[in-house]
Amino acid sequence: MCGIVGYVGYRKAVPVLLHGLQRLEYRGYDSAGLAVLDEKSKKIIVEKQVGKIKDLQEYIWGKEINGNIGIAHTRWATHGPPSIENAHPHTSKSEAFAVVHNGIIENYAKLKDELIKKGYQFKSQTDTEVIAHLLEEYYEKDLLTTVLKVAKMIEGAYAIGVISTVEPDKIVALRKGSPLVVGIGEGENFIASDIPAILEYTKTFIALDDEEIAVITKDKVEVYDINGNKVEKKPFTVKWDLAAAEKGGFKHFMLKEIYEQPKTITDTISGFFSDLNNPVYNEIKNIQNIVIIACGTSYHAGLVGKFWIEKFVKIPTIVDYASEFRYRDFPVNEKTLIIAISQSGETADTRFSAIDARKKSAKVLSIVNVVGSSLSRESDFVIYTYCGPEIGVAATKTFTAQLITLLLFSLKAGLERGNLTQEEFEKYYNDIIHLPHLVNEVLKQDKAIEEISYKYHNVKDFLFLGRGLNYPIALEGALKLKEISYIHAEGYPAGEMKHGPIALIDENLPVVCIVPKDSLYEKMISNIQEVKARKGIVISVSDSQDSHLLSLSDNIIKIPSVENENLYPIVSVIPLQLLTYHIATILGKDVDQPRNLAKTVTVE
Ligand code: F6R
Repeated sequence: MCGIVGYVGYRKAVPVLLHGLQRLEYRGYDSAGLAVLDEKSKKIIVEKQVGKIKDLQEYIWGKEINGNIGIAHTRWATHGPPSIENAHPHTSKSEAFAVVHNGIIENYAKLKDELIKKGYQFKSQTDTEVIAHLLEEYYEKDLLTTVLKVAKMIEGAYAIGVISTVEPDKIVALRKGSPLVVGIGEGENFIASDIPAILEYTKTFIALDDEEIAVITKDKVEVYDINGNKVEKKPFTVKWDLAAAEKGGFKHFMLKEIYEQPKTITDTISGFFSDLNNPVYNEIKNIQNIVIIACGTSYHAGLVGKFWIEKFVKIPTIVDYASEFRYRDFPVNEKTLIIAISQSGETADTRFSAIDARKKSAKVLSIVNVVGSSLSRESDFVIYTYCGPEIGVAATKTFTAQLITLLLFSLKAGLERGNLTQEEFEKYYNDIIHLPHLVNEVLKQDKAIEEISYKYHNVKDFLFLGRGLNYPIALEGALKLKEISYIHAEGYPAGEMKHGPIALIDENLPVVCIVPKDSLYEKMISNIQEVKARKGIVISVSDSQDSHLLSLSDNIIKIPSVENENLYPIVSVIPLQLLTYHIATILGKDVDQPRNLAKTVTVE
């Protein structure tokens, strides 16, 4: 939901800002802009374009913009359609202040009316423009005090970067609810919505907490709380390198990230075992009920996790969409464990549900990929997945890492609660460490899967069916197809199909059936028979060689057999990622940045 980057230092600001925007483009890509303090004229130069970062780049190519301090923004529209006027940065009446903003100012209409009465004219339909005018209206002695004053007037969730001609050596950055990091360099400093934006310049960061304000010059970073008191922040270092955030020879980030899974699964398993003293395993002994909250793909991981938790931890567990959970009166207490799953750790619905539940004395365990993200800092316990940055908007490697983490968590928690012996735990572990190899085997099916994609890329609808642990995988397959190819798709528990969706089946409907040789295999076969009896096109994802399944299937995507059926979801989702990727690319869709979507959804 919009990306911010800012630079102050010895380099020319424009290339640094453009590089940063390129790496933040996944956060929003309907328009972009930058503001730089021109060293000669001492004025703020603003350039904006509708479209992608490359459109902005082409537009300013060859223009002389010389300045060592600037801010930039890539937009995912909330207030007002994509247009040059609505693109950020926004400037104040005298153009002395320029602002970039990620988030929503909820009381902007009231503030706008007041400013209009004071003679301010608005150029855009955005909520952001009020901030620029408020800064001008209330500027007295220094920028920090003014931003503090304005921060108390605006309501909502936001991250903001400000530059001004009145204090031309500094960026002032403010965070409340939307992510913002400060990058620390030598003789230069940065701000960004996300670490990869500035990873080519520094690996040392400060994560701002809510209601913190940073004053950043080229040699110094000072952080204050909302009341103007200085706050000591401990910088942290990230281990990723830039290559991890680049395409590395793959056509798309999504494909690269699908292929990275053997490694990210290995890293997540090792990461998990380096954190066996996590205090959550002590806490789990006191817990009586578990609520998993998440959105989108992370929610699907939660649905699989529920099976494992119930099986191994033996604690009643429900899974809910964070956006729904937050607004119902679900009873929680100090014996409730909320497991909040979020790749980004910034999803507003998930974060605020977790914060609310914690206020009601529940304990929160978050499973996140981004170190230092808001959710990780707002939780009682954190388990990280170790995927490095995921740039493709469609989640792939973070999903399998979430699954592994939930499985390992369930086993370890089951061990702590006495439901598993150490021997049983180790037996599961020995099965799990084969997963990277098994995933590699599935990746070898890529060509065959691409061929199937060519056959069906022109259809209008798809159905995905699975049972038990693989039912959420059917949901995930359908979600992936919808979001990157814009083909309508439904995921369903196969046994439930006869209660409605069966009416959809005819000779034009491809039905992807996840049918591993597990304890529900025969039940799946019966459901596939029901599909075939109505002339549906069956695409089976299976390790079975059974002639009955072969005769029912129009296409088979082979997966390797696993020792332990708990591992099937992690293996069977990989072909669905590849299938949906190929269908979308054959259709010429922008798989890394599908329309209307953003990687990090920081609005409710
Ligand atoms: C789908 C996808 C989204 C996210 C959802 C939650 O491919 O990526 O559905 O899963 O927006 O995001 P996180 O996990 O960052 O909370």
